[in-house]
Amino acid sequence: MSTAPLDQLPEQKAELLQAIAGISTLEMLREEEPRITGKRSILSTLQRSLGSLDPDARKDAGATLQEVRHEVEAALAARRAELERSARSETLEVDRLDLGDVVVSSLKWPLGVGHPGLVASTQQELEDVFIGMGFSVADGPEVESDWYNFEALNIPPAHPARGMWDTFYVELGEPETVVLRTHTSPTQIHLMEAAVANGTLPIHSVMPGRCFRRDTPDARHLATFHQIEGLVVDRGISFADLAGVIETFTRAYFGADIESRLRPAYFPFTEPSAEFEITCTICRGEGCRTCSRTGWIELGGCGMLDPAVLEAVGIDGNEWSGFAFGFGIDRCAQMRHQIADMRALIENDVRFLEQFS
Ligand code: PHE
Repeated sequence: MSTAPLDQLPEQKAELLQAIAGISTLEMLREEEPRITGKRSILSTLQRSLGSLDPDARKDAGATLQEVRHEVEAALAARRAELERSARSETLEVDRLDLGDVVVSSLKWPLGVGHPGLVASTQQELEDVFIGMGFSVADGPEVESDWYNFEALNIPPAHPARGMWDTFYVELGEPETVVLRTHTSPTQIHLMEAAVANGTLPIHSVMPGRCFRRDTPDARHLATFHQIEGLVVDRGISFADLAGVIETFTRAYFGADIESRLRPAYFPFTEPSAEFEITCTICRGEGCRTCSRTGWIELGGCGMLDPAVLEAVGIDGNEWSGFAFGFGIDRCAQMRHQIADMRALIENDVRFLEQFS
């Protein structure tokens, strides 16, 4: 053995620095690290060998060794930082997403002209049918007070009939109860109030629009859906007028081969009331999953205006009578185009949408 344990230190240090320079990945660095600065490393071995020196020489040698250790450790840290930096930019490069690229390459060139969705075009067609029958088209709010959505329609608070509509309540902090309208019937009330205030009775109107119910979507239901309401207030109106309007509409919109029927039902705002059903167009009346094997699809409800409703809006029931109906626009689209599952209307699958351009 040479007289001093640190004789070889310059060469040993050069070797260590060279080894560090040769580390090319973070994984390799983790593997090499114990051999460079760990307990079994040459630096630690030399440290232990200093015990054989006399105190003065040990102090000097210790200081020299410490200096070299710092230098090696600094080189290792610098190498680690360098490797981490390049690993990060590599990840960035790999994960890089050129949004312009994605959008452009998924479009078919030349770009075509878009078109209204199926529900919008169905609403348009329904409006046209009713305009042809002498109705005008009116609009109403989607957010309603309890009065319009329920009370004026003869559904007082805590009335069991409220259970017919799974309602979304809107928390606005007012004393008044506010809801997302569960049907288009509240627009009847707006129209009648306005007609009374302006002295513009009679009314022959349809009112299409969006409605909301706390429903779990299935083949026939969506939580956000569309209805078209109809309202006639005039002199000498009877149930025969209502039945005639429903029948005329069905033939005009669905064609002569689709049957419709009215079945007795209950609605708090009409008396008598009926449900309006047509032959299921998916199975042509055979019974299928869409119509729950009944062969019929309920489009909506209808009936003669209940005297309590006329009274709520200040219309004299001795002079005026009328009827109302309300049915699903989405349902009409579904039946007209034989869409087995209504959820297709909101899934935005381009292959579905393109069929209705
Ligand atoms: N608003 C009722 C519903 O959504 C349908 C209806 C409208 C019934 C008009 C009678 C008269 O269930």
